[in-house]
Amino acid sequence: MPPAFYPTTSPASFCRADFGADFRWGVASAAYQIEGFGDCEGKGPSIWDAFVTRRGRIRGGEHGGAACEFYRRWPADLDLLAALGVPHLRFSAAWSRVLPAGTGRVNQAGLDYYEQLVDGCLARGITPWLTLYHWDLPLALERRGGWTNRAVVGWLSEYADLLARRLGDRVPYWMVLNEPMVFTGAGHLLGVHAPGRRSLGAFLAATHHAALAQAEGGRALRAALPAGAQIGTTFSCSYLTPARADHPRDVAATRRADALLNRLFVEPALGLGYPMADLPVLRWLERYGLAGDEARLPFAFDFLGVQNYTREVVRFSPWVPLLWATLIKAERRGVPFTTMGWEVFPESLYYMLRQFASYPNAPRLVVTENGAAFPDPPPANGRVTDPARQAYLQACLGQVLRARREGLPVDGYFAWSFTDNFEWAEGYRPRFGLVHVDYPTQQRTVKDSGRWYQQLLRSEAELT
Ligand code: NOJ
Repeated sequence: MPPAFYPTTSPASFCRADFGADFRWGVASAAYQIEGFGDCEGKGPSIWDAFVTRRGRIRGGEHGGAACEFYRRWPADLDLLAALGVPHLRFSAAWSRVLPAGTGRVNQAGLDYYEQLVDGCLARGITPWLTLYHWDLPLALERRGGWTNRAVVGWLSEYADLLARRLGDRVPYWMVLNEPMVFTGAGHLLGVHAPGRRSLGAFLAATHHAALAQAEGGRALRAALPAGAQIGTTFSCSYLTPARADHPRDVAATRRADALLNRLFVEPALGLGYPMADLPVLRWLERYGLAGDEARLPFAFDFLGVQNYTREVVRFSPWVPLLWATLIKAERRGVPFTTMGWEVFPESLYYMLRQFASYPNAPRLVVTENGAAFPDPPPANGRVTDPARQAYLQACLGQVLRARREGLPVDGYFAWSFTDNFEWAEGYRPRFGLVHVDYPTQQRTVKDSGRWYQQLLRSEAELT
């Protein structure tokens, strides 16, 4: 029985068939969070390899040096995934594994690795979904200005072209960027993610270049991939509510936060431009633009990746210049929250699917990430008992089904994540996996939530 705070708006029980035969079920991951072997077989360093060595940046001084050793352990991990009956795997390529300096010389060993991984998926009946950029910019490119240098648009397109030509005959689903709002905001404004910059100018430059790169990367993929390949890109998003609904300043703050957190990258991609009317500071993006950029920002993606973990409650703040808004932490609101401090609020996913679907020219939507970190007990007798994660995933899937039943064009769902992994600045403490990883031994143990997902994927009758 899920705890009382779970929504009553989701169907109480469902089975796989309720989502339709063509719904894509998967799990998601990212290179730096799982691969390890960051300096192996010709790989160049990335901004994350460098960032984790800086004092005080990562909780406990941890790093992705070994992570889940997926770089070597992928055959056994793919066997496990196949045994769980999961038909789709989303993963990212590490740019500096294939182009050690980000541009120019190709590292054949890196390309071979991703080719083997793709073939390994296909041999097991698993469909690969490839993200080009999940935050690990080659360090050599950062030294040339990274996302603040407009040349990054061409660098990303070169990388997209290379992977598309090598893997395009076997990878049917491609995503250009993972959560640009996070790598620009956390990486360039707040300095809590790589490359650790803290400046409004760096953030605005990175934002405009990422928005251009998301479209140009899409065009590079389209030019190099066979007809029929599906091209998407992914967005972080959270349903936002004002702290006091009858307080106009909180309502206006919520609108500004929504423009920043949920609309900044998707709207230019859809041809709507930046949401400047609701967040005037975005006018400063024009400083980084060139004539003709307006026409370069849109791209006709085949799908948009919606990634949702929580909702946020917004209040007016005089202390945050230009945004004049702050997010109130879940722990201060007396609501249940995860290891990340994020409120448990499954309906957020439904509201975000509605928001993304409401754009007049929105393509199909895929939930490319959703999940929760909870303090799991250690494995005992081959089991990890994680009822909170199972209840969360079940409630979120209920919200996806609710959206589908209302006719929203949501076509797939990827749980974050397949295995526990390196959670960026938070290190290894947050565990998001359906599969537990004991890092000292690299032993995998399927959690109860993983077994539940397996049951769901097998189910012909309703699961409660
Ligand atoms: C989104 C990111 O894409 C992923 O890398 C991260 O681990 C999850 N959110 C959880 O924070």
